[in-house]
Order: sequence, then structure tokens, then C-alpha cells
Amino acid sequence: MRLFGLIGYPLSHSFSKAYFNQKFENEGVDAFYENYPIASIDEFPKLLAEQPALEGINITIPYKEVVIPFLHTSSDVVKKTGACNCIRIRNGQLEGFNTDVIGFEQSLLKSLKVDHKKALVLGTGGASKAVQYVLDKLGIGFTVISRKADPATGTLSYEELSFSNQQNATLWINTTPLGMYPNTDACPPMEYSSITNQHYLYDLVYNPAETMFLKMGKDRGAIIENGQDMLQIQAEEGWKIWNAA
Ligand SMILES: NC(=O)c1ccc[n+]([C@@H]2O[C@H](COP(=O)([O-])OP(=O)(O)OC[C@H]3O[C@@H](n4cnc5c(N)ncnc54)[C@H](OP(=O)(O)O)[C@@H]3O)[C@@H](O)[C@H]2O)c1
Repeated sequence: MRLFGLIGYPLSHSFSKAYFNQKFENEGVDAFYENYPIASIDEFPKLLAEQPALEGINITIPYKEVVIPFLHTSSDVVKKTGACNCIRIRNGQLEGFNTDVIGFEQSLLKSLKVDHKKALVLGTGGASKAVQYVLDKLGIGFTVISRKADPATGTLSYEELSFSNQQNATLWINTTPLGMYPNTDACPPMEYSSITNQHYLYDLVYNPAETMFLKMGKDRGAIIENGQDMLQIQAEEGWKIWNAA
């Protein structure tokens, strides 16, 4: 039986295990997908030694960046984003990939209009790096918003963001965990009254399907999209990588 798995901490609400094991059952694939909640990335070599059958690993919060020193090779996207969410193991070699990028790009494009030329990216973590990579690739100008401004990189704090900035930047992307179950009443501290029906609000959070952030957009006529498709696309891209010749 082939073995795949997920590292991260904690993994109580992980989508991947249920998704892959259901997929293996539906498609008659002799494989199993297991969760490996490790409390520190220092436990990763021990896990690899204990599970020599592992062929593929997904990486989630908080290890997408700190896993990189363990890789033998990295894709160009991993090198550019500094984040890896998918590893293929062949002959003891760990090959790193980033499938969040393709997942985000394909799901964003479904509702993107030509007028969405300026974006606000909320949050500065691993997922934000994947989002920024895609926006660069698509030629969409963006400002990164953080709890802590960084004049060196042009990152603004929420407090520094003006009403007109928010009105003019019609693509807002939430890469923070604010609003994720069980804290479903939370949302990024934006000026939601600046939203128009030209806005597109994209939330990487997928549980709940309609976060407070998306509800604020929907109530004002904006296009909204959650992270469910991104999640599914990145999982399928990982499966392709693990099975590539
Ligand atoms: N749909 C998908 O396929 C998919 C893929 C990847 C991630 N995600 C989701 O995206 C979210 C972020 O993941 P990640 O890996 O990027 O996590 P991360 O590395 O921990 O980064 C999250 C960022 O959010 C901001 N943040 C955290 N707590 C905050 C708070 N209380 N208030 C305001 N900002 C806060 C921080 O930025 P500042 O410190 O700069 O404010 C932080 O860097 C998670 O909810 C994750 O489930 C979804």
C-alpha cells in the first residue's frame, strides 16, 4: 500500500486526510493518507526515519517555510515564494513544490474581471507569499497589509489604509486566519463601507464557506470566493506531482 501524509500542528481540522482517503476509495487506489501532527519541525527527520514508505507529504501551518532546509531540491516557485506545501520523496530525496500557487491562481481567475487591477493582500504569512507570487505573475498591482507596517517593503498597517485606498483597490484577498472556525465572528479590521459592487473579495479560509469577511462583501454587492476550490486544486496538483513519471 502506498503511503502519503500531512505534517503541521495542530491538525484537528485538516481537510486533506478525509479528501485523499475518499479519493483513494472512489478510484480504487491502494494507498493511505495519514496525519502527522508534529509539535516541532525538528521532529521531521525522525518521522521520515519511522515512515520509510512515505512517497508524498503535504505541509501546512506552521511549517511551510521552515521545512525548506530539509529539501534536497526545490521548484522555482518554492525558491521564489520561500514556501513549500508539497514534498515528493524518491530514492530518499525530498523534492519541494508549492501547489498553493496554482490552486490560488486557478480559483481566483474564475471570477476575476479586467477592472480588478489593484489588490490589497491582508496578512504576511506563507499563504500571502503564494498570493503575492500569483498577483505578480498576473500583473496585478498590490499592497500588503499587516498588523505591523514595514516601510522597507511598502507594507501598510490596517490603521494606515485610507478609505479611498480601500475603495480603489477592488480586489481584497484575506490570507489571515481571521474568521476561521471556531472564531467565525472575526474578520480583518477593514473599512467595509468602502466596498462597492465592483469589488471582488477572496478569502483563503474555507471553513465556514461564508466567512464574516465574505458576508461583508456580499452584503455590498461584491463578488466573493472562498478557499474551497483552491484547496481542492492544490490537493489534485499534489497528486499529479506524486504520480509523475
Ligand atoms: N484554501 C487553501 O487552499 C489555503 C491554503 C493555504 C492557507 N489557507 C488558509 O490561509 C490562512 C493563512 O495561512 P498561512 O499558512 O499563511 O498562515 P500564517 O503563515 O500563520 O500567516 C497568517 C498571517 O495572518 C496574519 N494574522 C495572523 N493572526 C492574525 C490576527 N489575529 N489578526 C490579523 N492578522 C493576523 C499574520 O500577518 P501579520 O502578522 O502581517 O498581520 C500572519 O502572517 C489560514 O486560515 C489557512 O487555513 C488556505
